[in-house]
Amino acid sequence: MRRKLAAGNWKMNGTKGNLAQIEALASAFPDPACDVLICPPATLVAAAAALPDRRSVRIGGQDCHTGVAGAHTGDVSAAMLADAGATHVILGHSERRADHGETDALVRAKTDAAHAAGLIAVVCVGETEADRDAGRTLDVVAVQVTGSVPDTATAANTVIAYEPVWAIGTGRTPTLEQIAEVHDFLRAQLVARFDQGSDISLLYGGSVKPGNAAEIFAVSNVDGALVGGASLKAEDFGPIVAAL
Ligand code: G3P
Repeated sequence: MRRKLAAGNWKMNGTKGNLAQIEALASAFPDPACDVLICPPATLVAAAAALPDRRSVRIGGQDCHTGVAGAHTGDVSAAMLADAGATHVILGHSERRADHGETDALVRAKTDAAHAAGLIAVVCVGETEADRDAGRTLDVVAVQVTGSVPDTATAANTVIAYEPVWAIGTGRTPTLEQIAEVHDFLRAQLVARFDQGSDISLLYGGSVKPGNAAEIFAVSNVDGALVGGASLKAEDFGPIVAAL
């Protein structure tokens, strides 16, 4: 049985004052029907994990280095995230692929590092608008999953997030049929490659809002969402959690 996950990616947003949103979310869902995850910026991971009223809300990072420790100024290791109380880490987000030139091979090495530290890797894939217009969507996500996810992935240590780049922060979403097409395709890829491929959760991300979450969650092989803007406030993220 696949785990349902409502995950929030705060990106480069939030200071200490925003931590109250996590406790507000926790108190609104004392016994959520799905896993709930908030990935704040690295500066807030330890404080978020230490919140006295965090309850079942899990905390994750947004990136990690491939190594455990060493001379890598500005980087954070998976072991450090785990030490700070994180259970998950987002890897290979399209913003990191674009802003920092992250390749599939690098994302795979980071995923290995996350697994070694005991973290659940949320590995992101997704096509650009040019890819979709050229009919290359399935080819692109297949290459990304093959290259970014190590052979050791299991349902316990890996989640895949399909995030069409053109849908991120734009208010635009694929049609439900387009989401189903990609998620069914990814499921087939996972089943073909991994022993636990049928149990690895597949999230959709890109302009998920309270108003469209329920219909997206009803799509085949959608096991939850990776949410950006609408995860910053409990009043927006709460209805998304409730819809799962
Ligand atoms: O990782 C989440 C993401 O990229 C989607 O962002 O703001 O479109 O929900 P947003």
